[in-house]
Amino acid sequence: MKKVLFLAVLGILTLCGCTKGSGFQKLDEWTEIWKTGQQTYFGYPANQESELQDFYEWYVSTGMDRVNLNNAGDPMTDDPWNMSTQAFEKEVIEFFTPLYGFDKDDVWGIVTHSGTDGNNHGIYFGANDLYNKTGKLPIVYVSDEAHYSNMRLCDLQNLEVKLIKSDPMGRMIPEELEKALDTTKPALMVYAMGSTFKGAIDDMQALNAVLDKHPEMAIYRHVDAALFGGYLPFTEYRKMVSSKEQHFESIAISGHKFFGIDSPSGLFLCTRKVYDNQNNYNVTYLNDNMKMINCSRDAVQPLKFWWLIQKVGYDKWSEQANGMIECTAYLEQELTKIGWPCWRNEYSNTVFFKRPAPEICSKYNLALGYDEHFGGELAHIVVMQHVTKAKIDGFIQELQ
Ligand SMILES: Cc1ncc(COP(=O)(O)O)c(C=O)c1O
Repeated sequence: MKKVLFLAVLGILTLCGCTKGSGFQKLDEWTEIWKTGQQTYFGYPANQESELQDFYEWYVSTGMDRVNLNNAGDPMTDDPWNMSTQAFEKEVIEFFTPLYGFDKDDVWGIVTHSGTDGNNHGIYFGANDLYNKTGKLPIVYVSDEAHYSNMRLCDLQNLEVKLIKSDPMGRMIPEELEKALDTTKPALMVYAMGSTFKGAIDDMQALNAVLDKHPEMAIYRHVDAALFGGYLPFTEYRKMVSSKEQHFESIAISGHKFFGIDSPSGLFLCTRKVYDNQNNYNVTYLNDNMKMINCSRDAVQPLKFWWLIQKVGYDKWSEQANGMIECTAYLEQELTKIGWPCWRNEYSNTVFFKRPAPEICSKYNLALGYDEHFGGELAHIVVMQHVTKAKIDGFIQELQ
């Protein structure tokens, strides 16, 4: 019955020109299901208000949709390859360089395929940098609440990992790092800048203080800032993601989370010193030394990033970032008002709380977690641009 009704509505909408069908019923049905679900997409860190409609209009109207684009090669040269979008990619990296506290004369970066791709570069560059300095492979230290991609990538790169216990709110415990440190080997620190479920930020100052006790040890610090690295530079907490302030060598950020790129992408930035200390593979048919992991790289995502920098830019991203922080505080306040147990880390746009009934979890696409410290079954909401106060009110009403 529901399906018949749905098809009837879809038919009427198509007839009156309100929506353009693809001619494939399965695809049209899925599109409508998705658009409805998008309204209550609360559990995952994706900005559902992508502002790329005019990009696609430009893309199709100029015939670029019929062109094969590939960014194989290094965008950070003086003369990026014209038959790619590397010149735009370079401008994207230059826009973000000061926002992550790098100096324009001491930075290297690329638009990546995802946050995971950025972490892959951070771990790979870190391990090479330390090996080339000391002749020893490092041990990777990462908290047990960090995103699983970091552990997976260490596995892939055959690196020894020590998982450091985190406190109940999800931050790596400095005393546990101290106990685990093997000072005979270099240390590759992966700091979580917004752990996936609880939104915890590792206390880099406290952890660095532990490392400072061992000046004989070579250290590399990579920051996994997949989500938080998007909005923090546009808030009063910008120092948290500044290499100058926090002394990290590299950082990875997702493009499809805060920035609203409509499919996976990301940013990776590191110091030029780190880049220069990577292994050389001179590839004469490309424009330079290929130090990055991938040969072919997406050339459309850098264009989308560049487009959004022109169109949305610093001021509007600042407005959005501060709006998200305000709505996160609102969600926490409203949950507290109705007596629903909830928790939030400082600087975080993620609120985790006692898990509601399965129908609510399903309707709002809530991500699920489990932790005995907080009574067992949990769920979380990540307050992105589309999670407005009005939608939060609707959610709270349903909870009640
Ligand atoms: C903290 C953190 N790191 C890394 C990732 C992986 O990023 P991506 O999905 O862009 O590969 C995520 C994804 O949610 C994340 O939350």
